[in-house]
Amino acid sequence: MKTKRFTIGIGIFILFLLAIQFIQQPVENPPVTDPITAPAEVTAILRRACFDCHSNETRLAWYDKIAPVSWLVAADVKEARSRFNFSTWDTLSPADQQGRLYEAVNMALTGKMPLKTYASLHPASKLSEQDIEVLKQYASAQTPAKYHDSTIINARETEYKQFLEKATGPADLPVAANGVKYVPGYQDWQVISTTNRFDNHSIRVVYANDIAVQAIRANKLPFPEGSTIVKVVWNSIEEENGDIIPGSLNSVQVMTRDSKRFSDSGGWGYAKFNGIKLKPYGSTPMFNATCHSCHKIASANDFVFNLPLKNKDLK
Ligand code: HEC
Ligand code: HEC
Repeated sequence: MKTKRFTIGIGIFILFLLAIQFIQQPVENPPVTDPITAPAEVTAILRRACFDCHSNETRLAWYDKIAPVSWLVAADVKEARSRFNFSTWDTLSPADQQGRLYEAVNMALTGKMPLKTYASLHPASKLSEQDIEVLKQYASAQTPAKYHDSTIINARETEYKQFLEKATGPADLPVAANGVKYVPGYQDWQVISTTNRFDNHSIRVVYANDIAVQAIRANKLPFPEGSTIVKVVWNSIEEENGDIIPGSLNSVQVMTRDSKRFSDSGGWGYAKFNGIKLKPYGSTPMFNATCHSCHKIASANDFVFNLPLKNKDLK
């Protein structure tokens, strides 16, 4: 009796699967008008790992065409193309292309792309360390030379140092409402990351003090007491030729480890000093929780987003 009911159940299920096959939204491939032009080894990787979703050259496996999987595939392709499309790549401005590439490499490095569910069904799309290295090299070669020109950053920093000395005198540096102080001399610390955010026209440089650098080198989290990380945000200027250069100082942001004082925010005290006048952000200590609420996303990395992915990046 039980077996019979079971067989009927399977039968109904198969009928159901057959029926839903008629509800299909086929994935169309519009023409490839302005494709990305990159060295063959780069396009080969993108083609293998990304093109099924982020291009007009989607190639579906037979199992991608069976409902309900096909519905998910169609939705992913639609979403992915709307974000960016390697088949219409050249319609983006050079700055946008760089921003997308930067994001793409980050996604690949953190294993978020290709999408995990897709990669498990399409093992050939998985990226090796070597593939990621090729993408990384390509992306950094696309970054305008001037962006790498630290003399420009240094000149701006000198300008800002001089302003700081004139404006406040080295003795009374700004302090945030939660007691976290501005950190003079961070410019001499180890740079752990520079990021270029084209979406809001800024260039960021992230520095870490010795204590934090030791922890990163040893790959040992959580960060010990006294670890301090500073992020400086420069408003970037896009020149007519598409080069991006640092403009005025936007803010200096600090995270410092003091587990006792900041036990409510993962042991980090936050501070943000705005503009060349370094005006502390937040009129009450409450702002600390606002900063931390977002940094919680990076809880796996002790709340620090910009961890160098490979220690070899630290010279
Ligand atoms: C199975 C389909 C699929 C594949 C394959 C895929 N992506 Fe995606 N990608 C998506 C979807 C869907 C989104 C939007 C995700 C979201 O935010 O919900 C996305 C978003 C992105 C974003 C963020 C864009 C933005 O504006 O937020 C980047 C960057 C990206 N993908 C890069 C890549 C790279 C690089 C590859 C190849 C290594 C790749 N993707 C492969 C489906 C895919
Ligand atoms: C909306 C989310 C969000 C909020 C709110 C936020 N941050 Fe961040 N923060 C980020 C992200 C994302 C990064 C990494 C990307 C980057 O460097 O821009 C980051 C990076 C940092 C860094 C460099 C270290 C690291 O984690 O990579 C510091 C320092 C920092 N933030 C300080 C602050 C301070 C101080 C505040 C509050 C005034 C604050 N943040 C609020 C999202 C946030």
